[in-house]
Amino acid sequence: MKIEKAKTSRKGSINYSNLGFGKYFSDHMLILDYKNKTWEEPKIVPYQPMSIEPANITLHYGQCVFEGQKAFMGIDGKVRLFRLDSHYRRLVNSSRRMFIPEVPEDVYKEAVKRLVDLDRDLIPTEWGTSLYLRPFIIAMDNTLGLKVSETYRLMVITSPVASYYEEGLNPIRIEVNTQFSRVVKGGLGEVKAAANYAASLYATQTAKQRGFPQVLWLDGKEHKYVDEVGTMNIMFVIDGTLITPSLDEGTILPGITRDSVLKIAREWGWPVEERRIAFNEVVDAYKRGVLEEVFGTGTAAIISPVGELHYEGEAMVVNDRKIGPKSQKLYDTITGIQYGKLDDKFGWLTVI
Ligand code: COI
Repeated sequence: MKIEKAKTSRKGSINYSNLGFGKYFSDHMLILDYKNKTWEEPKIVPYQPMSIEPANITLHYGQCVFEGQKAFMGIDGKVRLFRLDSHYRRLVNSSRRMFIPEVPEDVYKEAVKRLVDLDRDLIPTEWGTSLYLRPFIIAMDNTLGLKVSETYRLMVITSPVASYYEEGLNPIRIEVNTQFSRVVKGGLGEVKAAANYAASLYATQTAKQRGFPQVLWLDGKEHKYVDEVGTMNIMFVIDGTLITPSLDEGTILPGITRDSVLKIAREWGWPVEERRIAFNEVVDAYKRGVLEEVFGTGTAAIISPVGELHYEGEAMVVNDRKIGPKSQKLYDTITGIQYGKLDDKFGWLTVI
């Protein structure tokens, strides 16, 4: 692996007391090019702009995928990457669906670990903060013909971050969208393709103008069943049972935090259901007073409680707009594992 170290560090220009999300970037980035049917040797170079031709095919047709993963500065000063293996596997699944060649596992994992190690001094230390890694692969052919590219670039940039939403752990308001479709069955919903996020922008922006930072998407055909929020998977606690949409329809992202929550909840013996959920069932639970908690799960979002769901002009207030006991316990447990306070009994951490 070729490594060119940054001559000066960006650390001094990072406001660690107001990190926000994705505003600051670390000193180095990883580049891995695919040419002549081979992934070349990875390079780590100082974070910098890159030049691409206006005819770059990704700019026109969007053949690209991405990941979001995190490294944590533990309470013992050790740096831990969360679920490196699962993020690699999901990147490969997304790549296959977009006809992008698979990045070799050992090359990817070694390069990511090296990148995090190089910028370990920039990792924030406060609880709730982390180094967010953004691996992405873009097609690099230059042509206006619509086709599968023959060249690609994988990059990993990293960003010291705090919570994704301004609200932090305070519950957010969500609007249930019944007008547009983000994904449909057989589409790209189950992979991390940029296209899914682009498809959510119009509805999310107009919802923001009405005071809702996020949108809950229902199925793309009937607008009847719950899919996910544009930035995270969604979970409900109804009458003591943790319920979340199953992956079977292929319309939601197989979230790694979603999977972590389900594994932890099952280990605790909580009643858990992964299945199709008609949104009317949520409305009905609300009316019966048994919609106990609603929260989102995601790498960026961690566990994000939802305090209000707006559906067809009606507001459903959840748990008095406060974080519920189950959401809090899950947040404490997941972050406890990530910062090395709790035992890594699932083997999710890679110490760097
Ligand atoms: C993540 O949670 O890592 C994501 O990629 C979602 C994105 C909207 C920040």
